Amino acid sequence: MSVEVLADPAALAVRAADVIAAEIGQKPDLRVLVATGNTPMATYAELAKRADLDASQVVAVQLDEYLGVLEDDPRSLYAWMRRSFVEPLGVRQVVRLDGGADPEAASRAFDAETQRLGGLDLAILGLGPNGHLGFNEPPCGPEAPTRRVGLTPESLASNAGYWPDLAVPREALTAGMPTILNARRVLLLVQGAHKRDVLHRALHGPETPAVPASWLRRANTLVLADQAAHPESGGG
Ligand code: PGA
Repeated sequence: MSVEVLADPAALAVRAADVIAAEIGQKPDLRVLVATGNTPMATYAELAKRADLDASQVVAVQLDEYLGVLEDDPRSLYAWMRRSFVEPLGVRQVVRLDGGADPEAASRAFDAETQRLGGLDLAILGLGPNGHLGFNEPPCGPEAPTRRVGLTPESLASNAGYWPDLAVPREALTAGMPTILNARRVLLLVQGAHKRDVLHRALHGPETPAVPASWLRRANTLVLADQAAHPESGGG
């Protein structure tokens, strides 16, 4: 695991876009796990500005979804991934984690499809305020499969900020920890002072189910953090 600290979210987005663009340059049919959430949005916008980037052969793999939420729902993470990454970048192939299907069947279909692709080349992740990756909510071991999960109070509170007028779904589907940890490369994006404590625990605390992101030390992980989030930034 390596850590780079960037001055601010704008610099982080440029650096993250550089990493992702280089991966696509080396492997045009990159199989990439695509987080939604606020953190990676500036990165995806930065990628979309790069006229020389050809992502037409990239396979975008969905990280998580709310249970029972369909594509036309404003809360749909699938629709968010399409709007922010798939369509602006001209990606044509998507592996979906379908919140409208039977949860067990959707999880097995997702795993079968990612295995058929030979696993992931790159996983782009944000960090939950409770240390989650996707919706691998604590406590969560490194073997936790793709599955249905109940969301923790921290995630419910955090998610409420995305759609102030709508109820936050209480259950979700998430790509499992092996899907993430076995990616050839993991890119964890972390910004803001509210992530400082959890990032510190992920980087320096014990590897523990209490902080699912701590398992990323077992993967080929590059952490890009802004100064506000990085515990050694001296920012208070
Ligand atoms: P955020 O969410 O990027 O909106 O902070 C991250 C997460 O909860 O995984």
